[in-house]
Amino acid sequence: MRETSRRHTAKDKSIGFVPTMGALHDGHLSLIRRAKDENDIVAASVFVNPIQFGADEDFDRYPRDIEGDREKLEKSGADVLFIPEAKMIYTDGFSTHVHVDALSDKLCGAFRPGHFDGVATVVCKLFNIVRPTRAYFGQKDFQQTVVIRRITEDLNIGVDIVVCPTVREYDGLAMSSRNAYLSPEERKSAGAIYRALQAAAAILKSGSGTVSESVSAMKSVLSAEPLISEIQYSGIYDPLTLAEAVDAGKEKLIAAAVKIGRTRLIDNILV
Ligand code: PAF
Repeated sequence: MRETSRRHTAKDKSIGFVPTMGALHDGHLSLIRRAKDENDIVAASVFVNPIQFGADEDFDRYPRDIEGDREKLEKSGADVLFIPEAKMIYTDGFSTHVHVDALSDKLCGAFRPGHFDGVATVVCKLFNIVRPTRAYFGQKDFQQTVVIRRITEDLNIGVDIVVCPTVREYDGLAMSSRNAYLSPEERKSAGAIYRALQAAAAILKSGSGTVSESVSAMKSVLSAEPLISEIQYSGIYDPLTLAEAVDAGKEKLIAAAVKIGRTRLIDNILV
């Protein structure tokens, strides 16, 4: 991968990089297409990163479909596919981790301790191996994009981070590889997440509603859905610091994480 990257950059070619954990869907492919529009070469990686999963999470059953991924990437115009093995990424004696203070423990970080250290560490490693000009991430994982922007700036990584719009299903459900876990009934009820975000947005956008009215509207849509077994968080936040918002006005992040059965789903919108 290093050699391939060097070959292209020696010819002054820009490299757009899309890091993924595979089981690719249209959300990932929209990142590939955007990278294709903005760069000479598009590289994607598929690596289910063990250190960003907690002990009781879904690392073992995370969907894997390398042949399907390869085909989709080729059709979408990717030029390079990097599929490292875990033992190449985490060699014997591996002991360096990247931790981003303040941002990593909020929202999803409060429910997935160590998750963002795992993400920050592997993304730094992938950036060092691939040496891209730009890297592309989906807004669905909003907190991840904030953490990655922070490490890129703090560690002078010199990669432009491009955040692309969330791609949604017919009922607004954000595309995610984890949607494959949902039974047909669960899949139907998952549409409530986007409806809840929109209910909150409508109040904020009206200009007359408060943040707490907006949060209540979101919670009542989520609570009315019987298959949502847990609301981990649902609220309105400052998109830069991820702190809870207190007053309306300025750009806000409306975000939620819920469990439907054993499946944890997240989504957000910016208003
Ligand atoms: O968003 C993902 O798929 C992963 O968190 C990433 C960025 C590829 C790191 O493993």
